[in-house]
Amino acid sequence: MLISCLSALCFLIPLCFLGLFTQSRSLLEDDDYSPISAPAPAPEPSPAQIVFNVMSYGAAGDGISDDTEAFKMAWDAACQSQLPSLLLLPPHRTFLIQSVILTGPCKTNALVFQVEGTIMAPDGPESWPRSYSKRQWLVFYRINGMSMQGGGVIDGRGAKWWELPCKPHRGINGTTLPGPCDSPVAIRFFWCSNLRMEGVKMKNSPQFHVRFDRCEHVQIESIFIKSPAGSPNTDGIHLENTNHVTIYNSLISNGDDCVSIGAGSYNIYIKNITCGPSHGISIGSLGMKNTAACVWNITVSESVIKHSDNGVRIKTWQGGYGAVSAVTFRNILMDTVRNPIIIDQYYCSGAGRAACPNQTAAVSVTGVSYEGIKGTYDVRSPPVHLACSDAVPCTNLTVSDVELLPAEGQRILDPFCWNAYGDVATLTVPPLFCLIGGDPRLAGAGAGADRQLLDHTCP
Ligand SMILES: *[C@@H]1O[C@H](CO)[C@@H](O)[C@H](O)[C@H]1NC(C)=O
Ligand SMILES: *[C@@H]1O[C@H](CO)[C@@H](O)[C@H](O)[C@H]1NC(C)=O
Ligand SMILES: *[C@@H]1O[C@H](CO)[C@@H](O)[C@H](O)[C@H]1NC(C)=O
Ligand SMILES: *[C@@H]1O[C@H](CO)[C@@H](O)[C@H](O)[C@H]1NC(C)=O
Ligand SMILES: *[C@@H]1O[C@H](CO)[C@@H](O)[C@H](O)[C@H]1NC(C)=O
Repeated sequence: MLISCLSALCFLIPLCFLGLFTQSRSLLEDDDYSPISAPAPAPEPSPAQIVFNVMSYGAAGDGISDDTEAFKMAWDAACQSQLPSLLLLPPHRTFLIQSVILTGPCKTNALVFQVEGTIMAPDGPESWPRSYSKRQWLVFYRINGMSMQGGGVIDGRGAKWWELPCKPHRGINGTTLPGPCDSPVAIRFFWCSNLRMEGVKMKNSPQFHVRFDRCEHVQIESIFIKSPAGSPNTDGIHLENTNHVTIYNSLISNGDDCVSIGAGSYNIYIKNITCGPSHGISIGSLGMKNTAACVWNITVSESVIKHSDNGVRIKTWQGGYGAVSAVTFRNILMDTVRNPIIIDQYYCSGAGRAACPNQTAAVSVTGVSYEGIKGTYDVRSPPVHLACSDAVPCTNLTVSDVELLPAEGQRILDPFCWNAYGDVATLTVPPLFCLIGGDPRLAGAGAGADRQLLDHTCP
């Protein structure tokens, strides 16, 4: 539909006539489109846009031939276009694409990456091109102003990666063989700005589905991510050193965190997303190997988390420094979630707790508000679990309108708190008597010193 409209528009604009004519002959031949006869919806006053169809660059789109070169050529052409451009992966076709880095900056800051067909990864580690990194599949590097959209599918074909014997409990008799155990992130945006992702469907990534590093101004809307509940490390959306992000109206089910927010991320707004099965929405893990982490101004609201290990989680390793601050979790419905509200400052994964001795430093957690967190928890662990660091307490936690009931049976588990300070504004279910009132930062020189460290390390 969009294409028809664009084509119709192009006929009116001589400038892009040539571009359309040469770039999309095969598009015009496609029976599914009749660009001339289709009634054009009220055209938006959009500037001329040139269509770069991968089919015109020699892609086969049969799911068997390697379309990587055609894809790269189409990308280069779209990226070098002075005018707004649309890179098209047409419908009813499957494009087998190897690991590829799509590099900017592009001449246009209005590039549309239109996925209508299926983009498919090579089938597992054996098929991965030898000379390419096994850590990433589709990489966008230094792009400013791109919109990835369309009704197509991005298929990471992760199944063979998930079964590698180095993945947790995938070795003989449920063992985990030593790594390295790299698996590709399906889509990685590195050093990008002004990105938009809308309507895209992604499935079965070998590892994280989409990861942003050092990006800013990112809008994600109505995306769908789906991988099996047991698929290891298949986080939905991961943010690292990324800011000014909105994630709206999306559905994610996978085998790890639904959304994970890593170090250096701030001004993040998440609204109306449904997670599950998953490991919930996480800030962290932070502070691994004594690193610094600052994460602030994060809001998650009007969302649903179902059949998940965690609901809203903040996880930090022992050691490290920096702070998590100004976090709001508001109006979140939990459906059979194991740990609906959890702060875990003793996070330790991989080698077991023995490898993570307690330390005197920690990423501090302060100013976290839980408002309107309701629903049911799976009775294996307490619905509220606030395990703060021995050395650096969690402060200024505020809780209101929390109502969490066991998903089945009558057995109500008491909340667990350790070194957690804050205020309960309304009576909660279950009652949160274990939260310590007041603010330890206001008393004692030690706390003052912590405060200084915090101010010194985070903006
Ligand atoms: C796996 O477990 C079975 C039964 O416990 C045992 O006989 C077999 O030796 C184990 N294999 C290895 C490689 O450990
Ligand atoms: C929330 O997101 C879903 C898609 O996951 C959408 O169908 C629904 O309309 C959205 N609700 C609102 C209020 O925007
Ligand atoms: C927090 O982030 C939101 C966007 O999510 C932004 O509108 C707001 O200005 C930020 N607040 C501060 C204090 O930076
Ligand atoms: C670390 O400290 C916590 C809280 O004091 C304690 O429960 C836990 O056993 C300690 N862990 C180790 C590995 O010493
Ligand atoms: C407590 O946290 C909230 C944000 O959740 C913040 O607005 C407020 O200033 C903090 N109060 C103190 C005393 O740090």
